[in-house]
Amino acid sequence: MPDIFFWMLSQLKRQSFSEVRCQQEYSGREEFNWDCKLLMTSEEALVFINEILNTNAGFAYNFARGPMESQTASATPHIPDLHNGTHYHEFMALLSRNRETKRYLEIGVEEGVLMSQIYADLAVGVDPAFRISANLAKNKRKTCLISATSDSFFADASLVANLSGAPDLAFLDGFHTYEFLLRDFFNTEAISDPRSLIIMHDCLPLNDVMAIRDLAEWRPKMMGTRFEKWWTGDVWKIIPILQKYRPDLKIVYVDCAPTGLVCISNLSPDNGVLKQKYHEIVKEFGEMPNDAANIDRMYSNIRITAASQITRGGEHRSFFRI
Ligand SMILES: C[S@@+](CC[C@H](N)C(=O)[O-])C[C@H]1O[C@@H](n2cnc3c(N)ncnc32)[C@H](O)[C@@H]1O
Repeated sequence: MPDIFFWMLSQLKRQSFSEVRCQQEYSGREEFNWDCKLLMTSEEALVFINEILNTNAGFAYNFARGPMESQTASATPHIPDLHNGTHYHEFMALLSRNRETKRYLEIGVEEGVLMSQIYADLAVGVDPAFRISANLAKNKRKTCLISATSDSFFADASLVANLSGAPDLAFLDGFHTYEFLLRDFFNTEAISDPRSLIIMHDCLPLNDVMAIRDLAEWRPKMMGTRFEKWWTGDVWKIIPILQKYRPDLKIVYVDCAPTGLVCISNLSPDNGVLKQKYHEIVKEFGEMPNDAANIDRMYSNIRITAASQITRGGEHRSFFRI
């Protein structure tokens, strides 16, 4: 973080601004861990400043990290500090409208805050414990709520028939453990069209506490953390699962606040690999520790896209097969 006072002054005077920080050479104040790529002695700084003045060249200051952040290397360098993109409700509302959604499916609806913002001809919501507080009929011609677990819903063709065809947009936000999400994913894909889009919530956690599987274990641990009450469970494991077993899918990782979205297209409704290998996969990924190191590794293997890039005009067409 540059010195704000001098930076503002330079902006007001329309002058270019460069800042050099020297190593602390006096005592009396606590040691500052400046977020500065360039630390030098005062003699070196004078030479450097002269060079800048003589060549009229500035240097790029690193604004990417927060102020006063420690220079100590993080053990989890790939886990983002925060997802700074559009809130996922707004992203989904824009996307559903831009895609002219005919049939929308949401697994895990709770109060219906998201579903009320979706634009669709028909919306079907599935939840074993609805607590509706929002206007679900808004921006839709027909809304249908099914009080059931997602497993019961997919197992009953007469319930699935309420969709009257393949969903063109599905949002998976039911129970937050990877084996539940895995089943929700392959069951949704099986009733989809190759051009459908499946979006999964909470798969990009910001630390390992919010990813704890067991709510009873999570509750006391999240108290006093930066993200109190944020529970993603270990659904992030769906990412390495799909990377390993379904490299044919097109996956876009989006920086939606608060815990990211994972958007999957290029679906193959007849591909039975995940269902056939379900028990093997659950065992394999159950053995993978649900810890910060593995979450960090997951992030190191993906590239995150800004939500605004996708919702701008017709841009979504270049990200997802339509
Ligand atoms: C985080 S809330 C959903 C929030 C909603 N999608 C939104 O964004 O406004 C998760 C919901 O999943 C539901 N749920 C839990 N287990 C489920 C299951 N097996 N099948 C479907 N929904 C489930 C819960 O009852 C809860 O209402």
